[in-house]
Formats: sequence, C-alpha cells, structure tokens
Amino acid sequence: MSSLQQVWPEPIVRVQSLSETGVSEVPDRYIKPPSERPSLEPQPVVEETNIPLIDLGDLLVGDDHSTILNQISEACRDWGFFQVVNHGVSVELMHRALQLWAHFFHLPIGEKLIYANSPLTFEGYGSRLGVEKGAILDWSDYFFLNYLPETLRDHNKWPTLPPSLRETVDEYCRELVKLGGTLMKLFSINLGLGEDHLQKAFGGDDIGACMRVNFYPKCPQPDLTLGLSSHSDPGGMTILLPDDHVAGLQVRRGDSWVTVKVAPGAFVINIGDQIQVLSNANYKSVEHRVIVNSAKERVSLAFFYNPKSDLPIGPLKEFVTPDFPALYTPTTFNEYRQYIRMKGPRGKSQVESLKCPH
Ligand code: OGA
Ligand code: NI
Repeated sequence: MSSLQQVWPEPIVRVQSLSETGVSEVPDRYIKPPSERPSLEPQPVVEETNIPLIDLGDLLVGDDHSTILNQISEACRDWGFFQVVNHGVSVELMHRALQLWAHFFHLPIGEKLIYANSPLTFEGYGSRLGVEKGAILDWSDYFFLNYLPETLRDHNKWPTLPPSLRETVDEYCRELVKLGGTLMKLFSINLGLGEDHLQKAFGGDDIGACMRVNFYPKCPQPDLTLGLSSHSDPGGMTILLPDDHVAGLQVRRGDSWVTVKVAPGAFVINIGDQIQVLSNANYKSVEHRVIVNSAKERVSLAFFYNPKSDLPIGPLKEFVTPDFPALYTPTTFNEYRQYIRMKGPRGKSQVESLKCPH
C-alpha cells in the first residue's frame, strides 16, 4: 500500500468546466451503479429527522458542563455526527472563508491550474480522490491544503487570489484547531478518560490538521451521481462548514440517509476512523455522502483534525479487556490514509480492513 503514484492515471477533467459547458447529460464516468444512486424518488429519508444541534455557549460560564457533555455523548454514540452553535468561532470569519473560496473557484481556469495537484501529496486543486484507472468519479472539484504540522504548511501552495485568502485561511484554521482541542477534551471526558488523554493519544501539540474545500458544481442529472461517494472520514474528527443555504450532506442512519439541515452559523462535527480505533469502537465513525442538484452549486470547508502522522494508532489500553480484546491492528495515520488516496471513498471498508483476526 505504500508505493505512491506520481501522476493521475487519466487526464483530469474539471467537473466545474463540464458543468459550465452546459452538458445536458452526466458523462458515463460519473454515473454510479444503481445501488449507489441517491434515488430521489421515493424519498428514503425521514424528512423530520436531523442530526442533533448542540449549543456550546454554556462552556464559557460556570463549571458544570454536564448537560453539554451528555448531549455530546449521546450524539457521538447515537449518530457519530452533530452540529454546534455558539462554538466561539466568529460567524463573520466563517462567512468570509466560505465566500473567498467560492470566489477562488470562480476564477478563470488558468488561475486554478497553477495549483493543480498530483496523487503524491494531494495538495492543491484537484478533481478526483483515488488513482485507480477507470474508476467512477464524483461530481466535485476540491482544494486540499496542509495546516499542521507547521513543517507541512506551505503558503506558496495556497492560492494568492482572491487577495486576502491566505490570511483568512490562517485565521480560520487557527480558530478551528482551538475548537477541535475543546471538543477533544469533551470526547475524552465522555469516554471516561482524563480530559487530556485523547489529545495525548493524538500526539499532544504535534497533531496534524488539513483542510479540503469541496466545490460541487450544478449537475444536470443529480439522481445518477454523487458529489462525494459514501465514506467515513479517515482522520480523527472533522469540523465541517457547509453552505447553510444549499443542502447536500447526507448521514447514514441504518438503511436510510438523513439529509442534514444546517443551523445558521453552525459547524457539523463528526467522529473519524482514528477515534473509532483509539476507543476500540466505543465511538464509531459514520458513513456519509454528498448529493448534488441542478439548481445550485455548493461549497463546503472540511477541516480534518488528525493524530500525528507517524504515531501508531491502536485501541487505548483503557478499552481493552479479556472480554473485549483489541479490535484493530495499530497503524500510523500516514499509512492509513493511503487507502482512500489510492482507492477513493469506499464506505467503511477501510476501518473494517484493520480488524484483527480473532
Ligand atoms: C468530506 C465531506 C461533506 C460536505 O469532505 O469528507 O464529507 O458536505 N464533506 O461537503
Ligand atoms: Ni467526509
């Protein structure tokens, strides 16, 4: 799994360019097998259902955070997903970051191609995950960048346009590292560990953090394809800022998909595979996907809070007993994420593949 490919197996087509040429049919490369299509009719989703909404405002006052802790605990166990408001990150900054990235994707193609990425690091402007020749692709483009560790942060790989984008990305990521740290403490306490334990298991101050900006162009036949195929996030935790005007994110709930309705100013938080592994499946990462639509494009910022990349991550001893042995073989995150980088998003097959033979 470690031989890294230097170049894409086929010429890259920018989905945005396809969309803007006004194609009336989705090319075959993007047509999902029937079992993976969003099947808009009949609607499989219970309309009234939504992921839990949790107000973090009270974390700033008093010492008794038991209500918030309980809400988060239930959401982690029941959904693997929740949204938070009053999280301490300025709503103005969130809005600015989204606007700047939307602006970036509307620059002339030449401006974006300066940052065209390769499968070696994935950094930059991309249009596919996975390097398998002939794979069915998703209806999206993206921009991927590294924030932590600082040795991987290279401002020269971030867009110079629009002018204030680099500064805004720095400011945004700094705030999200803080929010991530707060959530790590809450997860750690809820898992019955000391509040710093989970963070230490991630490598303490040496965590990794990166961001993928997803751009989902309008799609002429949204019932045949997906903006992002079903997957669980390989990292520790994801802090997602979706456009709150355009729905698209769906979370698996048993056999159906729940379309997330995002509250204004909210972040969507989800548990990634690394927390599933560390907690020996006390918490589980949950599959999700993105549907597209013919009326509106959509932008989302996915910030990934990850363990230090060369640390072997396996179940913590607190979760391993003779009755409940370790479920997973320790693996570094660097090694782990090669799977999605080679094969693209594939449900929960990766974390399943780590299972120890018992
Ligand atoms: C992701 C992801 C959801 C979205 O980037 O991993 O799940 O709404 N994004 O864009
Ligand atoms: Ni995801």
